[in-house]
This record gives sequence, structure tokens and C-alpha cells, in this order.
Amino acid sequence: MAVGIFDSGLGGLTVLDAVSKRLPDLPLIYFGDNAHTPYGVREADDIYDLTIAGVQHLFDRGCDLVILACNTASAAALRRMQEGWVPEDKRVLGVFVPLIEALTERQWGDNSPPRQVDVREVALFATPTTVSSRAFQRELAFRAIGVDVEAQPCGGVVDAIEQGDMILAEALVRSHVDALRRRMPKPQAAILGCTHYPLVEDVFRAALGKDVAVYSQPALVADSLADYLERRPEMVGDGTPAFLTTGDPRSVEDKATLFLRRKITFEAVD
Ligand code: DGL
Repeated sequence: MAVGIFDSGLGGLTVLDAVSKRLPDLPLIYFGDNAHTPYGVREADDIYDLTIAGVQHLFDRGCDLVILACNTASAAALRRMQEGWVPEDKRVLGVFVPLIEALTERQWGDNSPPRQVDVREVALFATPTTVSSRAFQRELAFRAIGVDVEAQPCGGVVDAIEQGDMILAEALVRSHVDALRRRMPKPQAAILGCTHYPLVEDVFRAALGKDVAVYSQPALVADSLADYLERRPEMVGDGTPAFLTTGDPRSVEDKATLFLRRKITFEAVD
């Protein structure tokens, strides 16, 4: 039994990397739905169907706990999955809540009513589907009041990263930051609400400037998972780690090896 990490493609590797650094003995099975990436321009029903197919695959491999390391799937499918699809003995966790807990300085599982927080103006960078779902704002409203969120749908960035075109990805990031700044000139904090964006985090940071606190997910998700597993140690197992993809494994592993700077071997799945 291993912990599963699901993403629409390569982005979730940023979360896998942080989790393996934080919890080096935890066996992880990665599932990248590279054949259907990007999710960020798909309809919610389509994302739901693709996400449950991938997560079912991870359950079939023996994972009892799966992290949806994809904001788009977390935004468009997670609630529906948790309400009617996830079996009683399995858990599927998303990646929004750790980010929002960090932004609102809450401890894990603090369910007290929403309160005023220090940060007032927040820039959210995410895929078009995540932005239009307003899932981030909904989760934030459970925890904080008086926070103004300006969201920028970052069309094209995931596609460029998946294709390995980092020059295009970087140019797109700069233009999305400019577009957001025209509507919110001085955000105090910026949320990188897509697991692909840590791969271009330096570009976000440079474009935003040093006065903006940038919240990036991988380390926050890893800390939150470590916390969760301390409370639910029965979800930790001793399965065999693997990297699975619905895409072409050779091309996926070439890019993954480049991103993570270590050799990764992918196995093809349907
Ligand atoms: N990396 C994913 C996310 O966090 C999905 C990107 C996509 O497939 O569009 O949103």
C-alpha cells in the first residue's frame, strides 16, 4: 500500500518531489494523465470522469490515500468525488486547503469561524477552469473575511510546460503577471494555484517583485500530508513506488527527468 499522487500531467511531480524530501520513506505511486493534459481548459464533467479513472487506477494499485496534486481536478471534481464516489475505506485529499491554511495562518483542522487576517489583497494565478470554478475563493471564505482575491486565468502556461517550451512558458507568465497587475497593482500575496507553476516559480517571483509574498504549493502540501499521516498512521503502507502515465512513457520520462534533475522511469497505463 503506497500513497498515490494524481496529476493531469507533469505538474504533480513538484508535489511528489517535496513529499519525497519531507517523507523519504513513504512509498509513492505517481499517476500523470499526460494523454489528456491540459485539464485547465476542459469542462467540469470531463475533468471529473478523467480524474476518477486515474484515481481508481491508483486504488487498484493498492493506494488507500490519494493526493489530487492538481488544482484543476481539486477545483472541478474533488467535492463531487468525496460526496458520492470515494469508498469508505479510501481517502482523496486536494491541494487547496494547505495553501489557504498557510495564507490564513491556521493550524491543520482548525474549523473555527472565518476571521480577519493580515493579508488583504491576494493575487491568484491558476488555470482557466480553476479560476472560473471559484473554488479557491469558496474555501478561503470558510476561513477568512475581508480578503480581496484577484484571479488571473493563466491560459497556455501548462501547455507550454508539458511541451517542454520553457521560453514560451516564461513569456506567458510575465504577460499574465502584467495583466493581473493592471487590475490589482499591489497585491500583498500571490498564490501559485497550479502544480505546474513551481517549475516557473522564479519567473513569477521576478515579475511580482520582492514585496509580494509568493505561496507555492509543494512544500505546504508535503507538510500537511506529514501532519495528516501522523494522525492517520494506518494510511501509510509499504507498497512499491512507481510512475504511471497515460501518455507516451519515453517522452514523459524525458521531460520528468529534466524537471526533477534525476532519472525517472515511467510505465504506460490505459
Ligand atoms: N497542474 C494542474 C493544476 O494544478 C493542472 C493543469 C492542467 O492540466 O491544466 O491545476
